[in-house]
Amino acid sequence: MITKVVAVEYVRRMRGGSQAHLLRCSDGEYYVVKFQNNPQGTRILANELLAAVLAGRLGLPVPESAIVDVAELLLKRADDLTIQSGRGNVSCSPGTCFGSRLPSEAGPYGIRVPIEIHSFLPDCPPQKVRNNAEFVRMLVFDKWTCNSDFRQVMFTRASGSRDYTVTMIDNGCCFNGLEWSFPNLPRGGLSPRASAYETVLGIDSFETWIQILEDDAGGQLLDHLADEIPPEWYQRDRKALHGLLGDLNRRRHHVRALLYTTRWKFPQCFPNWASKHTLIYSPLAQSRPLRAKAKEA
Ligand SMILES: Nc1ncnc2c1ncn2[C@@H]1O[C@H](COP(=O)(O)OP(=O)(O)OP(=O)(O)O)[C@@H](O)[C@H]1O
Ligand SMILES: [Mg+2]
Repeated sequence: MITKVVAVEYVRRMRGGSQAHLLRCSDGEYYVVKFQNNPQGTRILANELLAAVLAGRLGLPVPESAIVDVAELLLKRADDLTIQSGRGNVSCSPGTCFGSRLPSEAGPYGIRVPIEIHSFLPDCPPQKVRNNAEFVRMLVFDKWTCNSDFRQVMFTRASGSRDYTVTMIDNGCCFNGLEWSFPNLPRGGLSPRASAYETVLGIDSFETWIQILEDDAGGQLLDHLADEIPPEWYQRDRKALHGLLGDLNRRRHHVRALLYTTRWKFPQCFPNWASKHTLIYSPLAQSRPLRAKAKEA
């Protein structure tokens, strides 16, 4: 079941195209909240929640998420709770919103306090990210869900810890954003981080995660998913939602081919994937190789 909370306090505006706001909620936690009238479109709320549930079911490192109820009264009290556009500011719309929880730890007097968060970590000096290998698993997810954006993350560090932890955020462009279509987008989901895929030696490095999707259990990942999403986030168009989930189910068997295409188009992202092992796949993204083609490394 998805967590449901009520927004109780306005904190500040966040950066980014969806013009999210940081709010404190009834569970004492802080959430980055995206509103139904955000400039990127209402469906990105559905995308965020669908992706958060699926990634959570796969055990990927994503933030806790919640359906946040924002009351009219809070909007009236906080002048800055607006969406800015060239034509002026409009108030954020009340009602259900998508919330991505800020990583926090217990502070004094039992209050939750956010921990250290960075959008980027410099390569020099190198900082240890204890779960850096999760970039590989997340690429399988992003190929499956047709993330049309680059892979955005945050690096966090709890007080007293030396190492960072990576968490995957901003899944609004999964399912090809508002389109809810599944083209082959080789660049989609790639991380700009130089070390993201350095452990990848070939398609075998992804195989465990591909198998999880392709097995019967992969289909069960989609069970009851439609029931979790507030209907107002997809214009109550259940046909479109079921179409999306059907496409997603079929695409479980195309991920290997999509990864090959990405490797072929962007070899620089996979410095240790020897090209002589590259197999050429059908442009129709069949799951089995058509022929092996040895290339010069
Ligand atoms: N769970 C979270 N904890 C902390 N910060 C977060 C969390 N989720 C998002 N953020 C931050 O909030 C801001 C907006 O988030 P996000 O990237 O999801 O929104 P966006 O408006 O879609 O951005 P973009 O312009 O990249 O499309 C970013 O600075 C991001 O780092
Ligand atoms: Mg973003």
